[in-house]
Amino acid sequence: MSLDLVKKLVILAKSNIMQSNNIDALEAIRIKFLGKKGYLNQHIKNINDTPSDIKPKLGAAINQAKKDIYTLFIEQKNILQSKNIKNTLITDTLDVTLPGRLSDIGTHHPITSTIKRMKIFFNTLGFSIIHSPEIEDDYFNFDSLNISKYHPSRDEHDTFWFDEKRLLRTHTSGVQIRAMTNKTPPIRIISFGRVYRKDYDQNHTPMFHQMEGLMVDSHVNFSYLKKILYDFLYNFFEKDIILRFRPSYFPFTEPSAEIDVMKQETGNWLELLGCGMVHPKILHHVDIDTKKFSGFAFGIGIERLTMLQYNIDDIRVFFKNDLQFLDQFKQYKDI
Ligand code: DAH
Repeated sequence: MSLDLVKKLVILAKSNIMQSNNIDALEAIRIKFLGKKGYLNQHIKNINDTPSDIKPKLGAAINQAKKDIYTLFIEQKNILQSKNIKNTLITDTLDVTLPGRLSDIGTHHPITSTIKRMKIFFNTLGFSIIHSPEIEDDYFNFDSLNISKYHPSRDEHDTFWFDEKRLLRTHTSGVQIRAMTNKTPPIRIISFGRVYRKDYDQNHTPMFHQMEGLMVDSHVNFSYLKKILYDFLYNFFEKDIILRFRPSYFPFTEPSAEIDVMKQETGNWLELLGCGMVHPKILHHVDIDTKKFSGFAFGIGIERLTMLQYNIDDIRVFFKNDLQFLDQFKQYKDI
């Protein structure tokens, strides 16, 4: 290998590059001259055979040759690329009258749709929506609702505590106290939100949704409560359902009741919601005159309603973000 040969290789590479008229051919030339097994690298391998006085000069010349050839290659590549773009612009036709490609349109999550329907029903009856924090203190979540210091629901096993006072609310019922503290009767409110309990199985997830309702007025009674809730449930399910109103116990209502629905397939009763007349102790506590006013309250599990409506038997599917599951709800008309 001599300096002369290096010069000749550069000249040859240059003329090859200039004559190439497409990117593939150009790339083949690059490999032929600059590739691992290309001419110049082959010569570098043989450099040991050259006399030591010209070795450094020859090494430098080969490196310079590689640089020069590479620069030429890049220049030619840019030229060919812009030629390609120009050609495509000339030859390609764009039919602007073609229909567009449809993108997949999402739909509301079934829980969101249930919440919307509940809102519409209760708004129509004059209930307005209020919000309440998900991080509560033990006063609003337990004490103010007449839940004793030793009630099992306060246990570490059931409740997510941040410290001795603050927790993730276990139900939406605390909103009743906030509403009665901030407003004077007549009061008609509903509130939706996430609640948290340490539970996980087919019927329980650590986070789920509830709706709380509260009405306080001068003529509010138990039969009015039952009527409103039955109307709501018949309207919600849009089909014949069999309901049962049965006595129950909640520390913040007296009397208290629960409503169950009969599962048609099995004949079993399934609990839907808890309700009752606001306990007089609680009304006194928030300075509402029990001689003039009475109130009722109810708490509904939103997942439970949605599961019954669509015959879903595992609550966990709501929170898996599985598109195959969610896509099914496209068929239902949204509101
Ligand atoms: N907070 C109760 C629960 O999570 C449900 C409930 C029962 C709410 C009775 C009420 C009520 O407002 O009056 O199980």
